[in-house]
Amino acid sequence: MDSPPIDIPRWSPSPNQTTKLIKEPMQSTHHDHLGNSFDSSDINQLTPPKYSKLISFPFSSGHAPPDVGSIESSSLRSVETKSRSVLNIGIPAVTNIRDEEKIGNKGSVGAYNNNNLEIIKTGVYLTWKDLWVTVPEISAAGGRRPILEGLTGYAEPGEVLAIMGPSGCGKSTLLDTLAGRLDSNTRQKGDILINGRKQPLAFGTSAYVTQDDTLMSTLTVNEVVYYSAQLQLPDSMSKSEKKKRAKATIKGMGLQDAIHTRIGGWNVKGLSGGQKRRVSICIEILTRPELLFLDEPTSGLDSAASYHVMSRIIKLAQRDRRTVIVSIHQPSGEVFELFHNLCLLSSGKTIYFGPALEANEFFASNGFPCPTLRNPSDHFLRTINKDFDVDIEQGFGGKISAIEAINVLAKSYKSSEAYQLVQQRVNGIPVKNGGLSEMKGSHAGFITQCSVLTQRSFKNMYRDLGYYWLRLAIYIALCLCVGTIFYDVGHSYGSIQARGSMLMFVAAFLTFMAIGGFPSFVEDMKIFTRERLNGHYGVTAFVVGNTLSSIPYLLLISVIPGAMAYYLVGLQKSLDHFVYFALLLFACMMLVESLMMIVASIVPDFLMGIITGAGIQGIMMLNGGFFRLPDDLPKPFWKYPMYYIAFHKYANQGFYKNEFEGLEFPNEQVGGPSIITGDEILRNVWQVEMGYSKWIDIAILFGMVILYRFMFLGIRKGAEKFKPLMRAFF
Ligand SMILES: Nc1ncnc2c1ncn2[C@@H]1O[C@H](COP(=O)(O)OP(=O)(O)OP(=O)(O)O)[C@@H](O)[C@H]1O
Ligand SMILES: [Mg+2]
Repeated sequence: MDSPPIDIPRWSPSPNQTTKLIKEPMQSTHHDHLGNSFDSSDINQLTPPKYSKLISFPFSSGHAPPDVGSIESSSLRSVETKSRSVLNIGIPAVTNIRDEEKIGNKGSVGAYNNNNLEIIKTGVYLTWKDLWVTVPEISAAGGRRPILEGLTGYAEPGEVLAIMGPSGCGKSTLLDTLAGRLDSNTRQKGDILINGRKQPLAFGTSAYVTQDDTLMSTLTVNEVVYYSAQLQLPDSMSKSEKKKRAKATIKGMGLQDAIHTRIGGWNVKGLSGGQKRRVSICIEILTRPELLFLDEPTSGLDSAASYHVMSRIIKLAQRDRRTVIVSIHQPSGEVFELFHNLCLLSSGKTIYFGPALEANEFFASNGFPCPTLRNPSDHFLRTINKDFDVDIEQGFGGKISAIEAINVLAKSYKSSEAYQLVQQRVNGIPVKNGGLSEMKGSHAGFITQCSVLTQRSFKNMYRDLGYYWLRLAIYIALCLCVGTIFYDVGHSYGSIQARGSMLMFVAAFLTFMAIGGFPSFVEDMKIFTRERLNGHYGVTAFVVGNTLSSIPYLLLISVIPGAMAYYLVGLQKSLDHFVYFALLLFACMMLVESLMMIVASIVPDFLMGIITGAGIQGIMMLNGGFFRLPDDLPKPFWKYPMYYIAFHKYANQGFYKNEFEGLEFPNEQVGGPSIITGDEILRNVWQVEMGYSKWIDIAILFGMVILYRFMFLGIRKGAEKFKPLMRAFF
């Protein structure tokens, strides 16, 4: 760097002692990670016993959650600052490395510290080298546009890396890339290594709090977090322990006053935006993941809440040697001071990567000193934001455009010592075993997951009016209409057609209405996708939970409105005929729901999904054998195979057999016998296949329900497996 050395007044949010403590030993931490020797007596001097007690994270394992209220005390600031200083010199890391050296590389995730028999984890070292991400250019010229340009960096256990930069600079994209969650239209180049090795990083290997909150709007904060604790924490933990963990986590995020408030959504007001943010964080830190990504965890929070939330996350990182990467928009001075490393991006380029507290010096040495009394993070963002065409003041009195300022800084960073250090660090991280694999297998068992998901989904369906209750009301209204229009249909010759039409309406249009629950199901799917990506549970558990929880509601909808229509019309009086009718209606509704599940897995947008689902059902309805009799259907395609694929065929035939078998009608046709039997009507009028009983039709429908649900399972699992392969291939 050839910039002139200038004496710039530095912004200092807290007593200088803190900054000093942090800066000097940090060098030695880095040094140690690279394998050099370390004098442990230094650590003992810097670790007063009272701090080592106070820095216990409220949610950490093996420690009873302390009273969070005490952490909120006025001494919090200084204790945290000191504890951070102490931890910054890498005590856990050093102890860990020394112990590892003693016991040799046993290939295990954790090693035992002989002094206190505590498991000390290796942790996750995440490094990325020359990372490029491109997206298709939407312009006449075509081609691809880079949104990340050759980023190199690292994140280490026990430390928090903050990614900062103007809106649209690529913060979320970088987090998505590191977490293996990029969109399918993106292309990625460069290496991402976990503990020095290439490992896939998706589906349960890390926790990610995304920028948008996807939560079950009908549940309260306590329910959301507790259900999540039951799903994520292992069966070996008792229910009361899980409850305690959930409560402590909620309290730790300052949500104790909202614990019984519903999340709320577009129709019901519930939590505020900032509170939802904190609930999302609660869910992901319940298990204290090895690797935690947070995309704007403090948006919507006031500066005090931001500080407390961030300080808790930082304690999580330090206490349990977790690796935390957080993107943040506008940290206050105090929050900024909490970060260990800073990655400053602008238009996908690195402007600075290195210790957060040295960024100020970097800017100053390049001619952009932070004015006195201005928050340094505000200063950085103001200097590197080119969206508003405002000139940037330089320390020497001149002004340059933001684009020029960005170019100066990006160029200077490439030739800086900080950049060399990053390169050394990224190349110097040794290949280690363990880390992420530990997250697997630490969840609740399959049976627990199914049971918890069933309970949660049942409660959600109960509270969400749009899921089944509205449908029940509409079904009652519709069945009243059917019942009054076809009221007491009788046994005349004309009632044959009336019966046929009424039953066809039930089989086709009433079941068609099951589409009404699709928007609620799409919301469920969004939550499932988030939880699945974070590895909370498997696809099978979701399908089982959704299926079991919906059964009581579907039975209710089939039986009550079904009985109204059935008895008002005056169909066959015996109970077994009605039971068959209700069961068939139930099977059809389940089938339509299963079909909509498949649609939702392919077309996740609810409007497009409803249109697609309605289209598919419309086609099936057309060739179900009513609008065009089976023998009249064109043989290629419509009869074979569509007629046999359409569930309406089996529904119609089941309903018809159930109603017409055993009945007799007067024949008004000229020249025929005076009575026509139900069998003759089935065979000649409706062209029903009479070779098998009505129970086979219902069995086929239930078989189709199972098949459709397996298809959903297969599509989801296939997508999980093949998406990374496809990305790697293309
Ligand atoms: N899949 C994609 N297809 C096309 N463009 C994309 C895609 N993903 C991201 N981008 C573009 O990349 C740029 C960076 O987006 P990103 O969401 O990472 O920004 P950000 O820094 O997180 O912004 P914010 O602070 O507003 O959340 C934006 O211009 C965005 O439009
Ligand atoms: Mg973003």
